[in-house]
Amino acid sequence: MTDLDHATPNDRPAVPAHVGIIMDGNGRWAAARGLPRIEGHRRGVEALRRTIRAAIELNIRYLTVYSFSTENWSRPAAEVADLMFLIKRFIRNDLAELHQHDVRVKIIGTRDGLKPDIVGMLDEAQDLTHRNRGLTLVVAFNYGGRQELAAAVRRIAERVLAGELAPHSISTETVADHLDTAGIPDPDLIIRTSGEQRLSNFLMWQTAYAEFVFQPGHWPDFDRCALESALAAYMGRERRFGGTTAEGPLKVKTAL
Ligand code: FPP
Repeated sequence: MTDLDHATPNDRPAVPAHVGIIMDGNGRWAAARGLPRIEGHRRGVEALRRTIRAAIELNIRYLTVYSFSTENWSRPAAEVADLMFLIKRFIRNDLAELHQHDVRVKIIGTRDGLKPDIVGMLDEAQDLTHRNRGLTLVVAFNYGGRQELAAAVRRIAERVLAGELAPHSISTETVADHLDTAGIPDPDLIIRTSGEQRLSNFLMWQTAYAEFVFQPGHWPDFDRCALESALAAYMGRERRFGGTTAEGPLKVKTAL
């Protein structure tokens, strides 16, 4: 346990249970050094390893990373191939260690359009670690928030057609239960590197009350210090969830 503990009696600092990261700026990091974009992505994987280690040490329960969006298919074929290669290499090289550290890997996104070898590796990562109780590492791969919502609506409609669900009983919980993230708490904090300030189709439903921290640095330079700085910013925020004061029913004021 660290001072950045989850326990919050007397408004003590609370580490966000769920942090989502939009890992942006690999290409710009590489361009600034006259390197090919793949080098930026490679260094991005190293930053991801550092971040997973730091998240475990800081007692974060869920870490969701945006590693390939449904829109990333529009990149040049060679870059798409590089990103596919890197996810495969990440699973091949890092899965055993993640498992040793009790990390539970969960993949969100659609399998549509993915080659069978990648689908097999994603399934293997989930199957091997599904009983682990440490950090849950959620990898958003071939993921888009709108696509996830459309798929949830399709599944709900099928259940209505099958007579399993009455339309009047459909609530926000019903929708949440049909998303890829069912059972995972909503993110408390979203970090985006590289200075861009947008969501880019990441966890659209789940971020309704998330706090956002935008950092100017590019993703390959991200480290524990950058993560702690984002956590400190988060802890200085007052979360009201649509209520009037932090002392309202949810009492989730976080302060340093
Ligand atoms: C954004 O940088 C980053 C991505 C599209 C992919 C993120 C991927 C990794 C960190 C590595 C692969 C992930 C795993 C899980 C192995 P960008 O290319 O959009 O950068 P730019 O906006 O500067 O061009």
